[in-house]
Amino acid sequence: MTRPWWREAVFYQIYPRSFMDANADGIGDLRGIIDRLEYLAGTPESLGVDAIWLSPFYVSPMTDFGYDVADHCDVDPVFGTLDDFDELIEAAHRRGLRVIIDLIPNHTSDQHPWFQRSRESRESPYRDWYVWRRSRSDVGHSSVGGGSNGVPPNNWMAEFGGGPAWTFDPATDEWYLHSFLPSQPDLNWDEPAVQAAMGETMQFWLRRGVDGFRADVIHKIGKAPDFRDNLGVFVGPGADDRGRRFDEDWPTVHQRIRSMRRVLRSAGDRMMVGEVYVLDPEQLAPYVRSGRELDLAHNFHFLTLPWDAAAFRDAISEHEQLLRPRGWPTWCLNNHDHSRVASRYPGEAAARLAGMMILTLRGTPFLFQGEELGLEDGVIPAESVVDPGGRDPERCPLPWDAPSVGGSGGGFTSGRPWLPLPPDAERHNVAAEASDPGSVLALYRALLALRRSRPALRTGEMTLLATRDRDVLAWRRFDRGGSFVIALNFAERSAFIQADELGVDFNGIVEVSASMQRAGERVRETGLELGPLDGLVVREC
Ligand code: NOJ
Ligand code: CA
Repeated sequence: MTRPWWREAVFYQIYPRSFMDANADGIGDLRGIIDRLEYLAGTPESLGVDAIWLSPFYVSPMTDFGYDVADHCDVDPVFGTLDDFDELIEAAHRRGLRVIIDLIPNHTSDQHPWFQRSRESRESPYRDWYVWRRSRSDVGHSSVGGGSNGVPPNNWMAEFGGGPAWTFDPATDEWYLHSFLPSQPDLNWDEPAVQAAMGETMQFWLRRGVDGFRADVIHKIGKAPDFRDNLGVFVGPGADDRGRRFDEDWPTVHQRIRSMRRVLRSAGDRMMVGEVYVLDPEQLAPYVRSGRELDLAHNFHFLTLPWDAAAFRDAISEHEQLLRPRGWPTWCLNNHDHSRVASRYPGEAAARLAGMMILTLRGTPFLFQGEELGLEDGVIPAESVVDPGGRDPERCPLPWDAPSVGGSGGGFTSGRPWLPLPPDAERHNVAAEASDPGSVLALYRALLALRRSRPALRTGEMTLLATRDRDVLAWRRFDRGGSFVIALNFAERSAFIQADELGVDFNGIVEVSASMQRAGERVRETGLELGPLDGLVVREC
């Protein structure tokens, strides 16, 4: 059997608002992406990724910047038109780039016609497409007149803002559920028509040629049917959850994903990666392990870790083991919802090490635009804050040129960017890094080129090495064609790996170093020296 393409691919996430603006309104658009595909693939100078994931570009009032969809089957005018989308697919495919798009099955915008009709009356044929409940105090009594004086139906909490996941709608005297903003009502997946409608949405885009989907908060399409209270100290979504939740990851989710997968496979070789935002690796594994649900699931464990080699080592080992035999790991360190690596960890050097890690572990890497430049989070003045979830800093526009060269829009726009450029755009921008052989971009290109030319780094086995220095994380990738040792020094001092830790008679040649200083160096059986916060990919020979 041939290996599925998504196991060997490197994905690159494009956040359309911030990638490239082609019409000078300060907001990135589909035309801008088409114009810059060459940066990603198709020429020897390109970054060399295999697939792009487009964050939402659908019609939306943008209260959650597109994750509040008002029409699943059209492009928001701020991003362009369906014709632009078709052109983008064609242009990407011509360059050998696959395209996956965001699918948002858990909720819509309150401006979506389905919700507009649902809220009209309790008898609306769309009523059950969303989740409507009476006030808790009304249950068992007459529901009329419960009014907003009543209490929400249960204790579920919404993401962003920290309030209840329920909003009272006086028009029909009931509350509707929203796991996120009140402008993002949750769809009711117990209603078969909702499942069918989402299947049709998938078909629409599959017919237009997409290679798959990234399914937004997919674990939330299964909720306890009796709507019982969450248990625990903190009952809202997010990284600090404790206790037992009933508003997500209910067993019904698995059967629903399987039926989505049937739609996907009816269109051939297409894939789905799920945003399964559960942080417990044991909880994540069932979504991929059987080989019958998601092809890949984002693993957010890394995003929560301190800068500590041992913590990463444990996370890698646990994830690897839990997914075997049929699941395939995915790795990411950045996306549009999280502070960037260069800001969370010790600066550019850490960003370099992280890149080396992501691109050489066994599994599919997901990169977030700008990660390959070592970008830091933006600094957003109070009057420019636009995201209700505090995520503007990681969403700053991609600087294509130094502002001193490309103007104040840094080559992203000739207008006024919707968010400020990231700090240090003068140094961290595409043009400057493309011509600097020591840059973060040069490192990413070198790693991606090596990965392309060496199957052991894509599909080979992996064993973690037992290094004595607890600040060193090292592993071996190998197949019948060759073997590589990757060693990362998390400390800001030099480190040394003794010969016996590498295996008998270790001999090799440095293919890439995170500092871009040591390629070509021979490594003898005496051991391996690593500079402060440096990392090496060594080919054994
Ligand atoms: C996860 C997305 O990544 C995030 O940006 C969004 O706000 C929520 N899901 C709600 O759709
Ligand atoms: Ca624009």
